[in-house]
Amino acid sequence: MSECDMLLPSKIVEGLDTDTFGKKEIVHFEETDSTNARARELADQGAPEGTLVVAERQTQGRGRKGRTWFSPTGAGIYASLILRPSMPASEATRITFLTAVSAAEVLLPLKGLNVRIKWPNDILVNGKKAAGILTEISTERGSVDYAVVGLGMNVNTPAFPEDISEKATSLLIERGERFSRIDLLREYLRRQEASYRRLGTFGFELILDRWKELADCIGREIRVEMMDKTYVGWVEDIDPEGILILKDREGVSHRIVSGDVVLL
Ligand code: BTN
Repeated sequence: MSECDMLLPSKIVEGLDTDTFGKKEIVHFEETDSTNARARELADQGAPEGTLVVAERQTQGRGRKGRTWFSPTGAGIYASLILRPSMPASEATRITFLTAVSAAEVLLPLKGLNVRIKWPNDILVNGKKAAGILTEISTERGSVDYAVVGLGMNVNTPAFPEDISEKATSLLIERGERFSRIDLLREYLRRQEASYRRLGTFGFELILDRWKELADCIGREIRVEMMDKTYVGWVEDIDPEGILILKDREGVSHRIVSGDVVLL
């Protein structure tokens, strides 16, 4: 691929409107196994908050639940940000929620796309998954030492492998035109930094409210597929820990920490 299409650090910082996110250090790979894995190494070596790792291609992009993230060359944004929040490990899911809001808000102004968050961290465009988030944390005596927030966004991906083509999409597929990955990445960093500061100043409530607006899931009928069981019912709420509360057809409430949601 030509240099002008790459997510080169010198180009990302041009006009990047943040204080620290992407302003500390940006590490760029033409190919790596996983930007989250690289960012964790850097964080273990003491890299500061705001350090960003990006790649043109991942050979083992990590998804949730041990899945892989399809990461073809130059097609998507594969980016991992190092954060060092002062928070108990039990609150770390807040980071994923705020990242989902930032990623969705990057896409919202683009015309002709119906953007929605699906619990816990999928960004759907016109009903299919266009972006996902993987937060990995390292803890020290019950507190977060660092969090690596990985964002995968399918921007100019022309097609997907058969096993995911029903569920995955890209901006190119939905809009029939290519988008600038660098512009989207800069906007993501700007929104992510602003939301992260807000989390520190005002707490999680505002972010969760915005998340709920963008997910529009309360009262909806869903199926949640878990390792060993499946629930069908209606979303009662998302609690302040990010747990999904589902009322099943018998009227029994369940608190669901992790699973795959299908909107019915
Ligand atoms: C999901 O399963 O929805 C989460 C996908 C997260 C993918 C991104 S791509 C950049 C970063 N590096 C990884 O290995 N994974 C995340």
